[in-house]
Amino acid sequence: MLKKWARSALMGLTLSALIGAILPVAGAVEITIACGAVGIESRLCREGTESWAAATGHRVRLIQSPNLSNNRLALFQQMLAAGSSDVDLFQIDVIWPGILATHLIDLNPYYGEEQRQAHWKTLIDNNTIGGELKAIPWFTDIGLLYYRSDLLDKYGLPVPETWSQLASAAMRVVDAEREAGRVRMTGFVFQARAYEGLTCNALEWIASYGGGQILSPGGAIDLHNPRAVSALNQVAGWIGTFVSKGVLTYDEEDARGVFQSGNAVFMRNWPYAWALAQADGSPVKGLVGVAPLPKGGIDGRHAGTLGGWGLAVSRYSKHPALAADLARHLTSEAEQIRRAIAGAFNPTRPAVYRNAAVLAAHPFMGSLSELMDNAVVRPSRIAGERYNQFSTIFWNAVHDILSGRAAAADSLAAAERRLRRLSRNGRW
Ligand code: GLC
Repeated sequence: MLKKWARSALMGLTLSALIGAILPVAGAVEITIACGAVGIESRLCREGTESWAAATGHRVRLIQSPNLSNNRLALFQQMLAAGSSDVDLFQIDVIWPGILATHLIDLNPYYGEEQRQAHWKTLIDNNTIGGELKAIPWFTDIGLLYYRSDLLDKYGLPVPETWSQLASAAMRVVDAEREAGRVRMTGFVFQARAYEGLTCNALEWIASYGGGQILSPGGAIDLHNPRAVSALNQVAGWIGTFVSKGVLTYDEEDARGVFQSGNAVFMRNWPYAWALAQADGSPVKGLVGVAPLPKGGIDGRHAGTLGGWGLAVSRYSKHPALAADLARHLTSEAEQIRRAIAGAFNPTRPAVYRNAAVLAAHPFMGSLSELMDNAVVRPSRIAGERYNQFSTIFWNAVHDILSGRAAAADSLAAAERRLRRLSRNGRW
């Protein structure tokens, strides 16, 4: 008897084949997709497009896009502003629907109510602008704490519940390991380069201490407050001690590189890092654990930023129906199961979190759906098309603090003034 996931995989393929057969295309066409290349993303994307191409008889061309979310945005904006039909399907960040809305088609006609309901409502709502579905959710992300279970065991340390516990555990291990000759050992790696990833990290520190989410749900600016100042002061104090200064240039892959080569006790990263750290050939295979990010003190909260990506069809595509069909295939339950098992990419469909094969491959995924419900959301719906401008002001202010160029209170006050100047009567 076929396992449930295998049956749904087959059903997905048959459906695509059927759709391919009835679509009014005169001969095979080529669809171009711009998908990500972080970790093994590119391979997984290619495999997904190949099964669609085999089932429909069409061809798919992949173009690689830059790893950093904001660099990718700049490239896509350039292409779309030129009205270019070169790319049919774009992988877009959860924070972009508002920014790119005018260049993307409404997917509702291609993606009915029943299909939409199979995804988390928050993600469908996030991708819906003015009633139009601008992207089909593909995978979600949440900030997680990775730790070296062997090292915590060796020094009799628990998995840290608060940032202060993380700091003291990291210092303890780093000191002892360096003394024992492992001079490259560092305590904690995360994303502190000046880019969107720093916005995600900083929001986690601030929100974990109850320092707000930069903008209130009503759009009022809430950044220069005592909790945010002290949260960022704390992180600035780590740098140059158990966190190396190099972290100020790290993105996701830099942090993973250090952690995976065995040179860090803790890492903040997205779920994809799990599958790679645990893969054959990884120097830390079997030595890694994953947990919610620490709370800001015992009264604080675990705050992981919500990330993730969807698939959107360009308004300038010459083949919107086929591009939408490819998006439907790539985001299908069968594909999300495959990507979850092979790459720990978090599904956007709650049902996949109960899938036995997924849970057998990555037991921690079962608990992620609960974490996701409590995730911290960047204020991209409030800032809308100006989100990138907003986030740039924030991440630059944080980078100045972490690199010691400005005191936390001054830098946040200056960022708040800048945000106010761009607001309408103090509201975004
Ligand atoms: C991940 C997240 C995305 C976020 C980016 C920042 O790719 O999924 O939402 O913007 O990291 O680096």
